[in-house]
Amino acid sequence: MTPIKTVATTPYQDQKPGTSGLRKKVPVFAQENYAENFIQSIFDSLEGFEGATLVIGGDGRYYNREVIQKAIKMAAASGFGKVMVGQGGILSTPAASNIIRKYKAFGGIILSASHNPGGPTEDFGIKYNIGNGGPAPEKITDAIFARTKVIDEYKIADVADIDLDAVGSFNLAGMEVEVIDPVADYADLMEDLFDFSSIRALIASGFNVVIDSMGAVTGPYARELLENRLGAPEGSVRNAIPLPDFGGHHPDPNLVHAKELYDDVMSASGPHFGAASDGDGDRNMVVGKGMFVTPSDSLAIIAANATVAPGYAAGIAGIARSMPTSEAADRVAEKLGIGMYETPTGWKFFGNLLDAGKATICGEESFGTGSNHVREKDGLWAVLFWLNILAARNESVAEIVTKHWAEYGRNYYSRHDYEEVDSDAANGLIAALREKLPSLPGQSFGALKVASADDFAYHDPIDGSESKNQGIRVLFEGGSRVVFRLSGTGTSGATIRVYVERYEPDPAKHGMETQSALADLIAVADEISELKKRSGRDAPTVIT
Ligand code: G6P
Ligand code: ZN
Repeated sequence: MTPIKTVATTPYQDQKPGTSGLRKKVPVFAQENYAENFIQSIFDSLEGFEGATLVIGGDGRYYNREVIQKAIKMAAASGFGKVMVGQGGILSTPAASNIIRKYKAFGGIILSASHNPGGPTEDFGIKYNIGNGGPAPEKITDAIFARTKVIDEYKIADVADIDLDAVGSFNLAGMEVEVIDPVADYADLMEDLFDFSSIRALIASGFNVVIDSMGAVTGPYARELLENRLGAPEGSVRNAIPLPDFGGHHPDPNLVHAKELYDDVMSASGPHFGAASDGDGDRNMVVGKGMFVTPSDSLAIIAANATVAPGYAAGIAGIARSMPTSEAADRVAEKLGIGMYETPTGWKFFGNLLDAGKATICGEESFGTGSNHVREKDGLWAVLFWLNILAARNESVAEIVTKHWAEYGRNYYSRHDYEEVDSDAANGLIAALREKLPSLPGQSFGALKVASADDFAYHDPIDGSESKNQGIRVLFEGGSRVVFRLSGTGTSGATIRVYVERYEPDPAKHGMETQSALADLIAVADEISELKKRSGRDAPTVIT
């Protein structure tokens, strides 16, 4: 007898996937059948997976193991032929994407809330990725959400918990479960893409590299790559053990949460190069001595130097960036004579462009960079790309960045976040801006004159789908702009994001402090949106 149980359940109405899957606090996920309902709704929204492989893994955060046990037993009950799961329940998001692609799986379930804190009262998340290794497109996430609202039963194999800690294969209610080494395939892929012998030589010559894994998933990956394969001294990877609460870290690699690393690299005796990654390993922050590299500049510089890496030696086909990401990469695409694509926020929008061979390298201002090697952004990939560029050019990070600005001009750029704002106030702010749009063009704010203003809509050139209301853009004459949108990844209240950008072609003016270079635009952003009044805040919570 197959031990498959059908369990009656009641739907929840709040299981709408956001920018990157369903994210809620752990106590919400721990409600009766909450995770089961969502997982079954994923399976119910898919077709043709009978006998196929499902990849499962997560970033090791609190509740990861519990949900993985459920997901494996439910996959068996729904007719999958095989589950591949990372040892200890661990798979970084880019590593999961690679496994899906390499082993031609039907799809994957990734358990993560990315850069949000972990722990019994912190965040958890479930995300479904399709067979190309990338996040499910909106068509599927919409179907999943519709299903969650009416679901009345789920199926689960009534078996004991699986041993997730031993690599190997076994049968579970007629389905094969393979517990895999989460690191090896990913590390091999990186070794194919980058010139490890040059990077090894750079490190052996005394170039000091530190990676802060922030107590999250990249620890084992970074140790294998940096310490084992590239010869950096033991201890070069900090906070290298993935912990359920990330050791109390907020695993978001930016100037606020990775400040210790930043300060260390900036100090005279600190390392030459520092990098950090987020909870699930898809974000990155790169800092060189005397120079923090903004994610938007990082995208542009990686694209401009791509051919130094063996995996990209033949050149890149195109670049894609999310709309709020700075236009620095556009100038590189223009010079290279390749395609440039502007998409809404969310890595899922890059999938079609990558699959169609239109874009090779993609990036977002939210500390995400990646390429067609997987279908997720990839934190350690970006770090290795920088090391490859440093090894090839034999210059410092600061030299590379300032030379890039001298050649292309500098896009001064900053994002101001207002977190946990009252949802009605935040929605009101966006609604009021939307109403103002037609009256803005032609208006002047001090020296800044509005050239155009709109609510960004994306027409996918590959599948023709439309995504509307993706952020309010106000573009000024001369190329400066401010963008307003609400975050789709938060779990409490609303987060208002204000993105500010100014283009400066003159190298003599490239040495300004970013916030002062943008001060006039920041003031105009407040004036146009009544941000301070409506949010009740007089300063952003986070500035990146
Ligand atoms: C995640 C997504 C990114 C997105 C970022 C910020 O990391 O994978 O694609 O840019 O969140 O999204 P948000 O909606 O919070 O601005
Ligand atoms: Zn992430």
